[in-house]
Amino acid sequence: MQTKITNLLQIEIPVIQAPMGYIARAQLASAVSNAGGLGIIETSSGDLEAIKEEIVKMRDLTDKTWGVNIAQMFVKDPVEIVEFVHKQGVEFVTTSAGDPSVLTSSLKEVGIIVFHVVPTLRAALKAVAAGVDGLVVEGVEGGGFKNPDGASSIVLTPLIASAVEVPVVVAGGVSDGRSMAAAIALGAEGVQMGTSMLSSKESPVHDNWKQAICDAQETDTLILNRVGRPGFRVLKTENTVEQEKGGTAQFPGIEKVLELYFEGDMEAGFPFSGQVAGRINKIQPVAKILEEAWTECQAILKELGQRASQ
Ligand SMILES: Cc1cc2nc3c(=O)[nH]c(=O)nc-3n(C[C@H](O)[C@H](O)[C@H](O)COP(=O)(O)O)c2cc1C
Repeated sequence: MQTKITNLLQIEIPVIQAPMGYIARAQLASAVSNAGGLGIIETSSGDLEAIKEEIVKMRDLTDKTWGVNIAQMFVKDPVEIVEFVHKQGVEFVTTSAGDPSVLTSSLKEVGIIVFHVVPTLRAALKAVAAGVDGLVVEGVEGGGFKNPDGASSIVLTPLIASAVEVPVVVAGGVSDGRSMAAAIALGAEGVQMGTSMLSSKESPVHDNWKQAICDAQETDTLILNRVGRPGFRVLKTENTVEQEKGGTAQFPGIEKVLELYFEGDMEAGFPFSGQVAGRINKIQPVAKILEEAWTECQAILKELGQRASQ
């Protein structure tokens, strides 16, 4: 089965791996691209020197398609970041956490395919007006930075897919074939997986975080900084439950972030995770996750098609 996303991005499986600061680097992204999906390299860490090295590694590790995310909130110089991705030979960019009219035309002028990440219909229409090639529609159940008033993927996807011509990718709540089939039925041409890729074997984070995702129930996340904004969907820990009170939470410093990410101190920072943690029970290789999800997705769609024609 092909979709507009597999055709446009020249991939076999319509799964984009979510950008994640310090995590979405060559080890994870190349595993996703080699498995037939689309790996993404992050820039939200702001460490462009390290990212340059990751891009060099990507060229050694895969000859498949991959891309880069520009989280605009962390971009110091918009001109510099466009030059940077262009110079690195990047062909696909997702832009997020910012105004789509700032970067879209300059990225497209240098031949880059641009998808913008949107949490609302209004933002989707603005991105389309800015000329994006596609949208990543982010439901509030997903992990990471979130609009606390956001809608879930099941509401947002059909709302946006029926209002725009460009292809839509759903991010938030997808981990397997059943959720992928649902996303396609809702009008999406592909999915973006964050929490599932975070907990995969090739993800570089400490096993404590991966295991906490596997142990979590669907009710074990919360949104921090609801009042302060932006909100962050994280796993419940003693620290995050405490910080939730009052509705404002200070983003931890870099040492704390790295202590959580790579030393496994779950109380040190904000362990981003989506509600879909409640459906993830095993640390598995990326290739297994993607292959099983795509096989199951196609089988479900086929079975539903057969049922409908009976
Ligand atoms: C650990 C983590 C870090 C993230 N960092 C980013 C980021 O740097 N830029 C971005 O656009 N989205 C980021 N996100 C959000 C993801 O791109 C994605 O939308 C979300 O994880 C999808 O929902 P899911 O977690 O249910 O799969 C992050 C998510 C997680 C779990």
